[in-house]
Amino acid sequence: MRHLPKLELHLHLEGAAPPEFVRRLAGEKKLRLDGVFGASGAYDYNDFPGFLQVYERATAVLTRPEDYARLTREVLERSRDEGVIYTEAFLSPDFCGGRDLEAWRDYLHAIREAAETVDGIAMRGVVTCIRHFGPDLARETARCAAETAGAFVTGFGIAGNEAIGKPRDFVWAFDCAREAGLGLTAHAGEFGGPDSVRDVLDDLRVTRVGHGVRAIEDPALVERLAREGVVLEVCPASNVALGVYAKIDAHPIEKMRGRGVAVTVSTDDPPFFHTTMTEEYEALHRVFDWQGEHFRDIARTAADAAFCDAETRAALH
Ligand code: HPA
Ligand code: ZN
Repeated sequence: MRHLPKLELHLHLEGAAPPEFVRRLAGEKKLRLDGVFGASGAYDYNDFPGFLQVYERATAVLTRPEDYARLTREVLERSRDEGVIYTEAFLSPDFCGGRDLEAWRDYLHAIREAAETVDGIAMRGVVTCIRHFGPDLARETARCAAETAGAFVTGFGIAGNEAIGKPRDFVWAFDCAREAGLGLTAHAGEFGGPDSVRDVLDDLRVTRVGHGVRAIEDPALVERLAREGVVLEVCPASNVALGVYAKIDAHPIEKMRGRGVAVTVSTDDPPFFHTTMTEEYEALHRVFDWQGEHFRDIARTAADAAFCDAETRAALH
């Protein structure tokens, strides 16, 4: 499983920071990290709002472009060692320079340069706004995305707390990103139900949905996803760790696939959810009997849905 070539479309760069990395950086900067790690040394949270809080506290140790350069190298080396050949990472101007365009360019330059030093894996950036930070900050984030769109920044998305605000509040940000030629994706159908998925399709006009799994609760929506070729960035271990499903056996990924929905597989925030791409594959094999042909299929789906140029896409097939 480790050696199967994998494509990952949904990975939060800060969320991929191993606890040791965050502890080391905090130690070097003499920063205190309260309420981040449990007694075992792992990230410690009880529910989704708690997860977001720990995520933001851990991310606060990343204060300079060079911190992000180190993080990028560490994350890509780990992914590469799991067989990942292409990854799209969510990058947040909110954490990288507070949405100031010149500061954002410095962070981005550091991330891109670091990514180019890691052999065997290609990376693209999906700039992401954060739903619970509200539409005004999302507009500034979209401007950062639009100004830096190109060969490396190829997408725009929205993450954060799906219970807060409505997709229609973010139409301006998504229109701005679309006009800059960026591919579009939105987190929905993780904690929100089918209506939440429908709203990002209708209002934000995304071609991919982050998670999207709770669409399974509405057969008409499942049919629509299949008919329109909407690609789901499914993160099974994340959904189990955050309590969306009690265990992987109850996860709808196989039902979705069976009904013709284009599914892909990602880790989301791997150290937070105690997972790796190899472990995701192993679980899908164990629980749903996925074999080589299934894994080849999802890799092909991911290559087709990747926010990259045609030449890169062809090389991924
Ligand atoms: N969902 C929403 N927001 C996030 C996530 C997630 O899984 N990870 C990091 N930010
Ligand atoms: Zn996510």
